[in-house]
Amino acid sequence: MKCISVTLALSLISSLLPLLAASDAYASPQRFEHRRRHQHVAVHVGDAQTTSGSALANKHVVSSERAQTNSKTQAKSEAFTHPGVLVSNAQLRYVKSQLGLDQDGNLTTASKTPWATAYSHFITANYTSLSWAASPRANVECGSYSNPNLGCTDERQDAIASYSLALAYVLTDNDAYAKKAIEVMDAWAKTLQTHSNSNAPLQTGWAGAMWPKAGELIRYYYGHKWPSSKQTRFQSMLRDIYLPTIINGSMSNGNWELVMMEAAIGIAVFLEDRSSYDKAMHTFQKRVPAYIYLASDGSLPKTVPKQNLNSKDKIIAYWQGQSKFVSGLSQETCRDFTHAGYGLASIANVAETARIQGNDIYQTTDLGKRLRRALEFHTQYQNGEPVPSWLCNGAYAGDLEGMTEVGFNAFFFRAGKRMPQTREYTVSRRPQAGNSLFLAWQTLTHAEQPN
Ligand SMILES: *[C@@H]1O[C@H](CO)[C@@H](O)[C@H](O)[C@H]1NC(C)=O
Ligand SMILES: *[C@@H]1O[C@H](CO)[C@@H](O)[C@H](O)[C@H]1NC(C)=O
Ligand SMILES: *[C@@H]1O[C@H](CO)[C@@H](O)[C@H](O)[C@H]1NC(C)=O
Repeated sequence: MKCISVTLALSLISSLLPLLAASDAYASPQRFEHRRRHQHVAVHVGDAQTTSGSALANKHVVSSERAQTNSKTQAKSEAFTHPGVLVSNAQLRYVKSQLGLDQDGNLTTASKTPWATAYSHFITANYTSLSWAASPRANVECGSYSNPNLGCTDERQDAIASYSLALAYVLTDNDAYAKKAIEVMDAWAKTLQTHSNSNAPLQTGWAGAMWPKAGELIRYYYGHKWPSSKQTRFQSMLRDIYLPTIINGSMSNGNWELVMMEAAIGIAVFLEDRSSYDKAMHTFQKRVPAYIYLASDGSLPKTVPKQNLNSKDKIIAYWQGQSKFVSGLSQETCRDFTHAGYGLASIANVAETARIQGNDIYQTTDLGKRLRRALEFHTQYQNGEPVPSWLCNGAYAGDLEGMTEVGFNAFFFRAGKRMPQTREYTVSRRPQAGNSLFLAWQTLTHAEQPN
């Protein structure tokens, strides 16, 4: 099955040429043309073990057209768009065009900000080091508040490294980055058997949100050069070890279920698993209104039935003792802004993935309204607005830790909405490099991103 007909390859190339000609003015056309021709063919060779090559090839062409020409469509196709977890091909092409790197992957006089500054941090970070060494374990054991921490930090950092290296490969075209990413992914795929102890669901969500981002980039751009045995092993790890732990969600604080759904949705895109995608998206869409309050919800926040929050007192306790509800407040605001930030970040990440997959839930649900209010609400206090006495007893803990870039871009830059507080906060925190848990390089991928 390791071949693709010449006719098919040629028809793919000719169907892609008009798209390429229409690509954005900044792109470095030759590199991208080469890449896209090569990659579309390569992807299908790589996938031939599970799906008939030509059927999948056609799906991919359709998907790319859709993503390029009509990203706002709400059409729900059976086909998944790749790469399609958090970042799309069009987005990466745009970043690449703004970076204007030379052949060695170094910045040039043509490199533009804020991407260039973000890239400097990125390409010199430990996570993109070609000497990164994976530290896999069979049983990753994670207790509450990292006690015990047996492989938890290692697993998360290896997952972040794999995505960072995959992204470095896409931006520089240097194969060494792809090879290193695959080495890290395979080290875990060969070793990992289980996650255990009380934080296992959260840990599985954090690491599981990152792995499919790496897988998407490597499969799409490195294609058949990703050995199929390693690819299969990586897919099995996500399907058999991650997905079952996260797919049914969590009754804990909202950031748990939100990142678990982010992970499940990313894994489902990578595995082209429509039923898991739909199930996780359904859970996610019920959870968002129970995480961010809007005045239009009524006197109390919404709940999800399985939580059994059937009295006002229980709801207030779950909202960390906060009894006055205002638009933009989150369930974890009065716990601390750090955890609230995790929840808001997962909401933005999932919305971005859903949009790439053809359902712009920023627009088609009230998620956009909730997320935008929540970003403005929290960043105003981070920008120095005094905390009123009715809010969290007059003081908040923690810090959003720079998680605003994806949501800010969606509302301010792409949709042209006012976001004065989020803008001030976001610009002052650039480059947002991530949190070493489940966020990485969002200024690089999403700042001023028109796609
Ligand atoms: C690229 O940057 C690296 C490290 O900063 C440097 O060693 C190398 O000489 C640069 N290459 C070019 C072509 O400037
Ligand atoms: C990698 O860098 C991050 C961010 O600076 C840091 O938190 C982490 O501990 C580093 N990890 C390793 C293994 O060096
Ligand atoms: C998730 O829920 C489904 C049905 O509600 C159940 O069949 C399955 O065993 C659950 N999975 C796990 C890992 O608990």
